[in-house]
Amino acid sequence: MRYLFGLIGYPALHSQSPWIHHQFLKQQNKQGLYRVWETAPNELENTLNAMKTLQVDGFNVTVPYKEKMLEYVDRVDPYAAKVGAINTVLFQNGEWIGYNTDGKGFVRSLQESYPDVNLEGLKVLIVGAGGAARGIYTAFLEKGVQRVDIANRTTSRADSLLTINDYGISSTATSLQQAEEALSQYDVIVQTTSVGMSPKDAQQIMKLTNVKQGAIVADIVYKPLETSFLQDAKHCGGRPLHGDGMLVYQAALSYEIWTDTTIQADKVLQNFKQKQK
Ligand code: ATR
Repeated sequence: MRYLFGLIGYPALHSQSPWIHHQFLKQQNKQGLYRVWETAPNELENTLNAMKTLQVDGFNVTVPYKEKMLEYVDRVDPYAAKVGAINTVLFQNGEWIGYNTDGKGFVRSLQESYPDVNLEGLKVLIVGAGGAARGIYTAFLEKGVQRVDIANRTTSRADSLLTINDYGISSTATSLQQAEEALSQYDVIVQTTSVGMSPKDAQQIMKLTNVKQGAIVADIVYKPLETSFLQDAKHCGGRPLHGDGMLVYQAALSYEIWTDTTIQADKVLQNFKQKQK
């Protein structure tokens, strides 16, 4: 069997996904191709029709189509429906089935990097309330953590995320300032905004002075790998979790859905780190 996978998004040409998925295929001695279909909004239907004709085995969906893809799949996995976005589509028995692996990829990256962490006892703070935060929030709820709060510049946006929580898990929405003051209560802090992404960006989303010693501080940005947020976290006694883990593990979960196999993603993450150096 020769697999055909891909990515649809705009922009998408600089994506690392082809490299990552080709590594997965190589690891399993499988034949296949992962192709990027960079698609402007006025070409979306055209490209999707072409992908259907080509019988693409599975594809990823990135900005700005993750929510919109809900309209185009035949079925949606209940978890992806909860997140309200699709990043993975599986072609099976003539149907497109939508999944979401973003948040789960983050949690898997956390577990792989810090195997000592017991998810059930965790108090988590998510900084930001955009699409990425939504996926990570849902994944932590699904895992049954002790509490998970959301801090955002616009508090009403954080409030709206709370409606996902029908798990009975303690969860509140706060301002960035409130969260900054209460930082010492959290075991895991996840930065999901684009603040600090540019090396020129001296701005910091929040001060980490109050971080608990040994708390895990994550940034989902992987370029630069060592964001100023993570540098600060280390100075303040936090343990860093870099954004490249989420990238590789969400890809691994997509690949596992498409091929119904298990991938050793830690090896690919090591190779990815080497390549990025
Ligand atoms: P994504 O889907 O990638 O998560 P998004 O939906 O645009 O992106 O969300 C961006 C997040 O970054 C939001 O939480 C946003 O805060 P607001 O909801 O208040 O807009 C946050 N963000 C972006 N720029 C920011 C800044 N300069 N300061 C604070 N938060 C910022």
